[in-house]
Amino acid sequence: MTDGLLLLHAFPLDARMWRAQVEALADRVPVVAPNHPGFGGSEPVPDVMTMDLAASSAVRAMDEAGLERAVVCGLSMGGYVALAFARLFPERVGGLGLVSSQVLDDAPERREGRYKSAAEVADKGIASVVETMAPKFTADARLQEYARASMEKQPPAAYIGALKAMAERADSTSLLSTINYPVVLIHGDSDALIPVDRAREVKASFPQSHFVEIRGAGHMPMMEAREQTAEALRNLA
Ligand code: MLT
Repeated sequence: MTDGLLLLHAFPLDARMWRAQVEALADRVPVVAPNHPGFGGSEPVPDVMTMDLAASSAVRAMDEAGLERAVVCGLSMGGYVALAFARLFPERVGGLGLVSSQVLDDAPERREGRYKSAAEVADKGIASVVETMAPKFTADARLQEYARASMEKQPPAAYIGALKAMAERADSTSLLSTINYPVVLIHGDSDALIPVDRAREVKASFPQSHFVEIRGAGHMPMMEAREQTAEALRNLA
């Protein structure tokens, strides 16, 4: 068993969003980038999806790859899964990377919106979530097209499961005080989905974290600022 890097993807994309980072980092460290249940053609989403279930699925991917411990890095929803992973499997974590993510749970109106979106996907399909979200991922037209195409590939059941799991996720603020490994926060200052203030607040309450604020990047720094993101992860791994 060895150490490595676990990369956890965003909603509603799949593990292929990490391709540039896998290419940039795989010569330095073993990298595992699993799909969350239901995404990327993976196992069907369980009846009730939770961040804990996604974290358990990720730990199985580490087991299969022979990784004992990893720097666990998640982008956006992947960050929520990374935080659940850190709570459930602390002995498997050598460092934590939160990219375009946050430690807070949803405000009541946001939670309500997630349930409404889940009901709408069940009723009419994914189109309106895709239309709403795709332009918010990035201002880069080419990457926006990538995000849209990836979103269109994911099955409605995966959307519904993940929307409910995000609505029901725990606030992870108190987890931070238990962390004794390196933490990096990577966030674009133009993120239209999770404002950069969420990362600035984590930095303020957890000053030992390393904060990389990427000028001009939106919600996809792993592609918009490939080398800066890889460098921050290299320093952690
Ligand atoms: C994501 O990119 O994973 C989602 O935007 C996260 C969220 O909606 O909270």
